[in-house]
Amino acid sequence: MSSKIFDRVLHRTFTFDFHEFISLLSIGFLILHIVILTGDQYMPYSIAQILIPFISPYRPVWVGVGVISFYLILLVSVTFYIRSRITMKAFRVIHWASFIAYITAAAHSIFSGTDSPLAMSELMYVGTFLVIVFMTAYWLLTLRSQKGAQTSRGYYLSGAAQPTDQSTRTHTVTASTRTPPTRKLDAPSGRR
Ligand code: HEM
Repeated sequence: MSSKIFDRVLHRTFTFDFHEFISLLSIGFLILHIVILTGDQYMPYSIAQILIPFISPYRPVWVGVGVISFYLILLVSVTFYIRSRITMKAFRVIHWASFIAYITAAAHSIFSGTDSPLAMSELMYVGTFLVIVFMTAYWLLTLRSQKGAQTSRGYYLSGAAQPTDQSTRTHTVTASTRTPPTRKLDAPSGRR
């Protein structure tokens, strides 16, 4: 996970708790966003218009995309609390939905927000985009180096002698990668 980036300065437990807290905070702000819409003097929204995608009286497509994003955010956040009851694979697959949630939320905000052309809004959209790109790149890079470390660990655990030439290396690494990784190796360390 990209939250490993904070390991040098923050305790992993704190990072995970904070991660969970941020998800809840975002849901709190979304509820506020929805409550404000229902009280709007110019175009008040009904509960159905808020909960059912694509029936909004204003920009139905882009507001509908926002409703879908809202459900995805709820889904990802709920997995924090049912984690012990689902497999790590299911947890990860659902967590991937946060990328779709981000893309749909960004499209919704840009194309349905009346404040989108403001410099402050543009700054927020560009800023959040750059953070996502940076964290994703960091995550992919650490994933690659972790896989490399696991492969070489498997190589030496397999009892092979130190490689002396390329043909020996290729043979032994292939043999070690045939062994499926254990769940323990798959699971991240710490609380998560
Ligand atoms: C039930 C789900 C949602 C509904 C019904 C909804 C509805 C709306 C509507 C009608 C607008 C236009 C308001 C205006 O500009 O005057 C809007 C704008 C916006 N929404 Fe949502 N939204 C939902 C979910 C979300 C989500 C999930 C996010 C982000 C995580 C989000 C963030 C924003 C932002 C940033 C704006 C732009 C505000 C502006 O430029 O004035 N919304 N939403």
